[in-house]
Amino acid sequence: MQTPEASSPSSAAPTPRVLSGIQPTADSFHLGNYLGALRQWVALQETHESFYCVVDLHAITVEHDPALLRRRTKVAAAQLLAMGVDPERSALFVQSHVPEHTELAWVLGCLTGFGEAGRMTQFKDKSAKQGTSGTSVGLFTYPILQAADILLYTPEPGEGERVFHVPVGEDQRQHLELTRTLAQRFNHRFGETFTPPEAFIPEGAAKITDLQEPTAKMSKSASSPQGILDVLEEPGPMRKKIMRAVTDTGTEVRYDEEEKAGVTNLLRIFSALEGTSIADLEGRYEGSGYGQFKKDLAQVVLDTFGPIRERTLELLDDEKHLDSILARGAERASAVATRTMDTVRERVGFVGRGH
Ligand code: TRP
Repeated sequence: MQTPEASSPSSAAPTPRVLSGIQPTADSFHLGNYLGALRQWVALQETHESFYCVVDLHAITVEHDPALLRRRTKVAAAQLLAMGVDPERSALFVQSHVPEHTELAWVLGCLTGFGEAGRMTQFKDKSAKQGTSGTSVGLFTYPILQAADILLYTPEPGEGERVFHVPVGEDQRQHLELTRTLAQRFNHRFGETFTPPEAFIPEGAAKITDLQEPTAKMSKSASSPQGILDVLEEPGPMRKKIMRAVTDTGTEVRYDEEEKAGVTNLLRIFSALEGTSIADLEGRYEGSGYGQFKKDLAQVVLDTFGPIRERTLELLDDEKHLDSILARGAERASAVATRTMDTVRERVGFVGRGH
């Protein structure tokens, strides 16, 4: 494995870079996070210089409890490590540890049109739910902070056309489009500075739906507790939820998004976790009904999440160690972020501090 440091500027194809972020807004990540994104973060370390960020600044765009945020930020980081994010290879860090995120967000905010920001569908949905009095300006500018998260780590155009990937789900596409627009706008006004990032849905990313409402996405904010499988869930309740997952009145274990959304979701989960094709699973469970299928699926889920849960708890038991990993991650991130920000300040016309 070639480390980022080892890739010299003269090597033919520079290592692509990847950045992604996740909010510490739950007590645990869930299966949808894992199969839709986080598992790919781990895989991308093999091919990319990676920056992974727990976005605590984004988490305060809605009302929050400080003690819970502190706890959840650590739990989020511990889970990422337990899932296989390797601090030797990736910069794993907490967003608020690198103040350049907010600084760049200010500059980008000044390049964003009010109407442009107002067209972000996620903001429109969330603010419609909360009403205007419950909606903060921070929620409005959320996508601009996200653009800053990303653009701070863009390879500079001089760095030999390095590919810059941001793995995101469908729901983040518009934010990524805005990020690209802001990168191009900045470059146009102030000179080539940012490489616009490319959104990509990584290979093997699986869209997981709610166990109780299999046509809706598994989502922390929208799903009921019975519809979500938490990574840190205890084995007993985990099994129960899977056994009680909505299927349909038939008995056939068959992939059919229209007629059998529930079974199809379970097949996707099984296939993604075990690495078996859907067709093979359909064959294995031909004639056996849903009971055995669900029982086996529960075992596969427990075999994956059991060790992650244990490792997470171990990591949380040694806070000093965890803190030191995050401090090192922040240092690595800062090395890139401060360099980008120095360039930005200079290009925008801020006077240097003169040392
Ligand atoms: N908005 C993203 C989400 O809800 C989280 C996020 C914040 C993010 N900053 C990011 C994702 C930068 C990718 C890159 O999923």
